[in-house]
Amino acid sequence: MGFYLVRGTLLAVVVVCSVTLSVAAAQRQGDCSSLTRNGRVLGQCIPVRDCEYFMGILTVTPVSQSDRNLLRDNQCNRQQNGNVNVCCPILDMDGVGQANRDSLGALTHPLLPHECGGVKWQRSNDTEAKINEYPWLALIEYTKPSQEKLHACGGVLISERYVLTAAHCASGSAISSEGWRVRAVRLGEWDTLTNPDCQVSHAPEKTECAPPYQDVLVEEIIVHQNYSMDAGSQTNDIAMIRLKDVAQINNYVQPICLPNKQLRADELEDLVTEVGGWQAKSSSRLKKSEVIIESIENCQRQYAAQNIHIMASQLCGSAKSNECHGNSGGPLMLLKNNVYLLGGLLSFGPVPCPSTGWPDIYTRVASYIDWIHSNLKA
Ligand SMILES: *[C@@H]1O[C@H](CO)[C@@H](O)[C@H](O)[C@H]1NC(C)=O
Ligand SMILES: *[C@@H]1O[C@H](CO)[C@@H](O)[C@H](O)[C@H]1NC(C)=O
Repeated sequence: MGFYLVRGTLLAVVVVCSVTLSVAAAQRQGDCSSLTRNGRVLGQCIPVRDCEYFMGILTVTPVSQSDRNLLRDNQCNRQQNGNVNVCCPILDMDGVGQANRDSLGALTHPLLPHECGGVKWQRSNDTEAKINEYPWLALIEYTKPSQEKLHACGGVLISERYVLTAAHCASGSAISSEGWRVRAVRLGEWDTLTNPDCQVSHAPEKTECAPPYQDVLVEEIIVHQNYSMDAGSQTNDIAMIRLKDVAQINNYVQPICLPNKQLRADELEDLVTEVGGWQAKSSSRLKKSEVIIESIENCQRQYAAQNIHIMASQLCGSAKSNECHGNSGGPLMLLKNNVYLLGGLLSFGPVPCPSTGWPDIYTRVASYIDWIHSNLKA
């Protein structure tokens, strides 16, 4: 058994994560997650007659099938008297739902977007991600000295201007001894063989096409100063990429939320999270797998036997898949209260990949919040 920096092959990359965190942690203002015509927001489980939003829908006849489904999907419990409770969205004066990011474990910062990590209407329960399931996934484009271009590492969009990736994907000789240079970041990718990408779904038959991908040039690369490519443990394997132009945000290109610092490793253990990427040999489309976060102590013990010292600023995660999907530098995603948070960046893993019993090692993003803050520029 050996270890390597997960590098990804020619086309590819990225990450996935799909957490099937089943749900509805009680919130101060809300106690459930309400599905509205415009997506998910915090809600309260109350009798339907007390819910202005759904009464508004029900009083317009005939009630459409999609509204019926909405109502059914929001049923939260049945009272003893037979009345139905629904998860009623908590809306502000403009009728806009509020997902309080602090309570969600997300970080707020003036240079980070207010809207992030939104869960799309449907998440795939397949190993192939839907066309806009992870709109923050990025692919890093390199140029070789011969001017040949290739994609190898993954990354993740955190604002219209910044992408996070692993340091080993961004710092000179750590990328390749053959003089590869980071040139651009590709956003809005799904199927690496087609452009634009179209997803065909059945029942009902529907074709959904995304706009062409965006290749955005890189303005600056900030590698963590304490990253050392020669260290076995690969601590501080994190880098920020500032884009030369802002990314065009749309349904297929959106930032993920950063976690707040309180999101501690032991809150992640036993959660199911997701990783995704274009590493699979079987497909040119974005594939995903669930990842189980392992106990850091067990992981430290296990890796110490290979003389690799895992730190608290890292996470150990085992993908539940018999195929390798995630590219290094790509995100470990946590679904918490219907918002995707960035849990980690894929740093390295066992060879061959996957190797049963040997988790992959991720940089724990919550440990680098101050570092990220101090490097953000308007
Ligand atoms: C996805 O979920 C649906 C409904 O729960 C189920 O019928 C289907 O078999 C699942 N597909 C996969 C690939 O697990
Ligand atoms: C790098 O390591 C030095 C020495 O341990 C420490 O003082 C410094 O704060 C570290 N830098 C960052 C950005 O963490």
